[in-house]
Amino acid sequence: METLDTTKNKPAIILDCDPGHDDALAILCAARHCELLGITTVSGNIDLEQTTRNALITTQLLGLDTPVHRGADRPLVVPARHAEFIHGASGLDGPQLPPLERSPASHEAVRFLIDTVRSRDDVWLVATGPLTNVALAIRTAPDIVGRLKGISIMGGGTSFGNVTPAAEFNIYCDPEAAEIVFESGARLLMADLDLTHQFMIDEDAIDRIRALASPVATFAADLLTFYGQAYAQAYSGRVEGPLHDPCAVLILSHPHLFEIAPHHVAIETGGNVTRGMTVVDTRGGHRGEAPNTDVLTKIDSDAAFELLLETIASYG
Ligand code: RIB
Ligand code: CA
Repeated sequence: METLDTTKNKPAIILDCDPGHDDALAILCAARHCELLGITTVSGNIDLEQTTRNALITTQLLGLDTPVHRGADRPLVVPARHAEFIHGASGLDGPQLPPLERSPASHEAVRFLIDTVRSRDDVWLVATGPLTNVALAIRTAPDIVGRLKGISIMGGGTSFGNVTPAAEFNIYCDPEAAEIVFESGARLLMADLDLTHQFMIDEDAIDRIRALASPVATFAADLLTFYGQAYAQAYSGRVEGPLHDPCAVLILSHPHLFEIAPHHVAIETGGNVTRGMTVVDTRGGHRGEAPNTDVLTKIDSDAAFELLLETIASYG
């Protein structure tokens, strides 16, 4: 079992995200298990105005003073697209949300990413939305690639997509940005759909979260209920949703929950049918292209859920 060896201390991360129900739970996990240096927001599940608002309201509900920096309001080339059919009109439908009291620390997410990575040599970027901000930071300041500990990405699919049969949402939204990131030479970890669909949260799991009977538990349970119902309507008919984004955080804080395998990953930016596909070369040996990514292949989902439960409970 190949695992990621990280330092004993909490990994220092910047979370680039598009909240989004699962992004909100990634924030909840990151704040407890990482040194969360900041949150940057990007257009994705919903427009930038709302992803930023949702990141702020999530940190407010969790009692965090983590700075939130607004980033790109559209992909590098193609028009923005969203996923209201999963996340609702606000991007965070389900829970009752209080009036927003926080505001963004800046509208310069890319500047924040570059300056923070230049200021210390132990920063991981965790990207759980389209890779627009990350690509802009790499293009603006190529030196950060050598300074970063790495980039942990929720995105892609080894054997399937969710927007098209070939393409997963975060990559499909901005394939040009993904290509820049996957060709950058940075240390990459990829939690793709083949991995995240092993971590399904169903109604029994939601009941266990709700039974914690705290405001944060109610927030998480309401998020996951809406999310599971949306997945039921859109895909499976069963009220359960894959908990995508926390995987990209937990691989850094709890690597023993995962197995990883080195593969070459290329991004399809042309093509009609396959645009946005992550082409994962699993051939290995002499036939395969030199790996550029550690692909997460397995998660101990029972242990990961118990950790999620403990993490939610830790907010009181
Ligand atoms: O395809 C799933 C990914 O797209 C998740 O990050 C979800 O939040 C959306 O951004
Ligand atoms: Ca996301």
